[in-house]
Amino acid sequence: MPKQIKTAKLTLDDKTYDLPVYAPTVGPDVIDIGKLYGQAGVFTFDPGFTSTAACDSTITYIDGDKGELLYRGYPIEQLAEQSHHLEVCYLLLYGELPTKAQMIDFETRVTRHTMVHEQMHNFFRGFRRDAHPMATMVGVVGAMSAFYHDSTDINDPWQREVAAIRMIAKIPTIAAMAYKYSVGQPFVYPKNDLSYAGNFLRMCFSVPAEDYVVNPILEKAMDRIMMLHADHEQNASTSTVRLAGSSGANPFACIAAGIACLWGPAHGGANQACLEMLREIGTVDRIPEFIARAKDKNDPFRLMGFGHRVYKNFDPRAKVMKESADEVLNLLGIHDNETLRVAKELEKIALEDPYFVEKKLYPNVDFYSGIILEAMGFPTSMFTPIFALSRAVGWIAQWKEMISDPAGKIGRPRQLYVGATMRDYAPVETR
Ligand code: CMC
Repeated sequence: MPKQIKTAKLTLDDKTYDLPVYAPTVGPDVIDIGKLYGQAGVFTFDPGFTSTAACDSTITYIDGDKGELLYRGYPIEQLAEQSHHLEVCYLLLYGELPTKAQMIDFETRVTRHTMVHEQMHNFFRGFRRDAHPMATMVGVVGAMSAFYHDSTDINDPWQREVAAIRMIAKIPTIAAMAYKYSVGQPFVYPKNDLSYAGNFLRMCFSVPAEDYVVNPILEKAMDRIMMLHADHEQNASTSTVRLAGSSGANPFACIAAGIACLWGPAHGGANQACLEMLREIGTVDRIPEFIARAKDKNDPFRLMGFGHRVYKNFDPRAKVMKESADEVLNLLGIHDNETLRVAKELEKIALEDPYFVEKKLYPNVDFYSGIILEAMGFPTSMFTPIFALSRAVGWIAQWKEMISDPAGKIGRPRQLYVGATMRDYAPVETR
């Protein structure tokens, strides 16, 4: 239970209600309105949850004004520089950095679960050959509950642990299979002596006809992409996972719900949408036209890869991603392609334009991740699946935290009803 530090007073009509105020370890205080309806008979109204903390959590902290992101207290920049994705997975899941022995044990457990049930191959083959890999992933991850019954009892801590390990271990395999299927190539089995990122690259890019050697710079960049996306506190997809899980649904079904939510262009789908936008802009001279559209209130167009609900400063993930983008582009000798020129110019103009400056619309993580992923050879349709496989650990850590909270209850928001009041049914002849 969080610590109450003071009391807020709400005056409504001629009555005053006391509301407990809790102190977080860092961040704004939180007013507890949980008993408000019982006491005052009113709801609070906050569409989009802009001022609402839906849970307490010890996993990730974001300071949007400072542009700060901490996993279990550790700054993302330090982790991106010094850690690696599987260590970050351990940290997010268990709360502390592992010792050497703990890391070896964790790696072994993840590695032992990287293959998927052979029958799942048939399941994949049921999808249309040109299915979007995200569509396939929503279905296949949901179907894990049909293949792994022995880790769906949410009341058993051991089964929850096995589900977590299975999810983290198999999701790169599933994402790579979704890709291979969409391009008509044979599935590639995981190879467990490779790193988590290296194995994923190999499962995506190797073909039986040739040897595939993982390039260490691309492997590092892939690993960074995974770390940077691993968790982001109560974003839309994580909240979806928590809400689905609050009913007692099994973990695979909950993660499938999270993947479905992530797919939207305002969330994880922005990396695909951003690259498609850069291509649509096409040449630097067309940027002003698109900037004007983004500012036009009557045009629904938005600059993809810009703006964030929480960050009102540079997205710290974007800074690291930009460095990685430079490294990867240098390695691959890509200095002069039109999409890149458009991206660089757009970034420059948007950072100086008063509309974007005043609204604090900075480039976000998706602005740069698409550029790296395209340079690595991924088609745009794989950008969001890569976000999903990286976020799987965050979803599962948040789900585990929620399930193990004895005070947890089903999520059930209320509403401000503005529809018709009660009226009598009229038979069709009289309408
Ligand atoms: N281009 C142009 N104008 C924008 C943009 C944009 N990308 N983003 C926000 N605005 C404007 C918006 O029109 C509004 O203006 P006004 O106050 O005059 O009505 C103001 O900025 C605030 O926008 P909002 O929609 O109230 O902000 P939000 O917190 O609800 O939305 C967002 C956040 C990320 C959905 C939005 O910035 C957006 O649609 N960005 C483009 C999509 C994108 O890149 N998403 C990836 C987010 S990072 C990855 C992730 O976490 O999933």
